Amino acid sequence: MKTLKIASIPGDGVGREIMPEAIRVLEKVADVHGGLKFDFEEFPYSCDYYLKHGAMMPEDGMDRLSQFDSVFLGAVGDASKVPDHISLWGLLLKIRQEFQQEINIRPAKLLQGINSKLANPQDFDIVVVRENSEGEYSSIGGRIFHDDNEIAIQNNVFSKRATKQAMNIAFDLASKRKGLVTSATKSNGIFHAMPFWDEIFEEISAKHPNIKSESKHIDALAAYFITHPHELDVVVGSNLFGDILSDVGAAIMGSIGVAPSANLNLNGKYPSMFEPVHGSAPDIVGKGIANPIGQIWTAKMLLEFNGEANIAEHLLKVIEEVTADGYQTADLGGKYKMTEVTDEIIKRLGK
Ligand code: NAD
Ligand code: IPM
Ligand code: MN
Repeated sequence: MKTLKIASIPGDGVGREIMPEAIRVLEKVADVHGGLKFDFEEFPYSCDYYLKHGAMMPEDGMDRLSQFDSVFLGAVGDASKVPDHISLWGLLLKIRQEFQQEINIRPAKLLQGINSKLANPQDFDIVVVRENSEGEYSSIGGRIFHDDNEIAIQNNVFSKRATKQAMNIAFDLASKRKGLVTSATKSNGIFHAMPFWDEIFEEISAKHPNIKSESKHIDALAAYFITHPHELDVVVGSNLFGDILSDVGAAIMGSIGVAPSANLNLNGKYPSMFEPVHGSAPDIVGKGIANPIGQIWTAKMLLEFNGEANIAEHLLKVIEEVTADGYQTADLGGKYKMTEVTDEIIKRLGK
């Protein structure tokens, strides 16, 4: 029997509602397939934890999380209690950076039966590969001067190593898919790190003659996601560009509530972390209408990256059957509650 030790952090807002749903689904797939068992431990790290303890996690928090195969996260952030920069740098970004989760994989594809917000949706299947450790999300900088002269400065950091790594992952993925990599850039003289990014992209492209490659400016690319999503395959972007594009990808899927994501540690030293693309959705907390699919599809990615590709594919197939038959929450225009969608997925998983 294989046991996966999973640290679950429901976090804030709807994170606490959708996490139990995804855990119910994971317990069920393990039961149906046999040979696999989950050992979950829940960590209460959140804005409420901060109010009680003055920190988003205890001092040994990272050590404790490092003992697990994976971290499974709901959402972090409740600005009514703790300013976002404290909660996010104290938990979400801390885990991504200290666990060297340098790659963030964010698929965007049209699930059957979901009405995309696009005027003329055609089948699209995109994966955003986001550099997840540096770029615009650096801590270098600060605030200088005071009063009316105050200036805030933040330096972008692009290392050759991490940039190459993201691009290599993108080409590798494309070789197993439609064979196209699109690089998100802003090299038109505006942003000085981007010619560097482009040079590395050209170098890596030259090493993959069988994969088509192209660069598009981030602004035009964001529009292209909406006008020509079916023309895209793998899109590689810096930390901020990847963040923004993955929300555009989520929007064309019909709702940010369905979009999954995996923060991957590639050197095997620390766990990877799996979390949906969306946040804590304070506007719908407590109503029972949060879409559980983002967290459940994220559970599918957790299975996939823990060596359970067949179970993962089975789960995605069942998610699609359920959306195709109209079991959808309000964000998708449906009438079903969060738990009803999960119940239907669990029922159809079998046994
Ligand atoms: P958000 O993703 O929480 O919400 C944006 C919109 O999408 C809202 O209208 C919300 O109701 C809707 N939505 C989100 N998830 C949904 C779901 N599962 N089902 C149905 N509708 C859903 O983004 P925001 O409002 O910009 O941020 C709220 C808080 O979450 C902030 O503190 C932010 O920093 C944080 N945040 C955290 C993460 C994360 O933990 N990974 C990601 C994004 C934002
Ligand atoms: C995401 C979120 C985070 C990010 C925030 C909450 C720090 O938007 O996971 O997409 O910018 O990476
Ligand atoms: Mn985001």
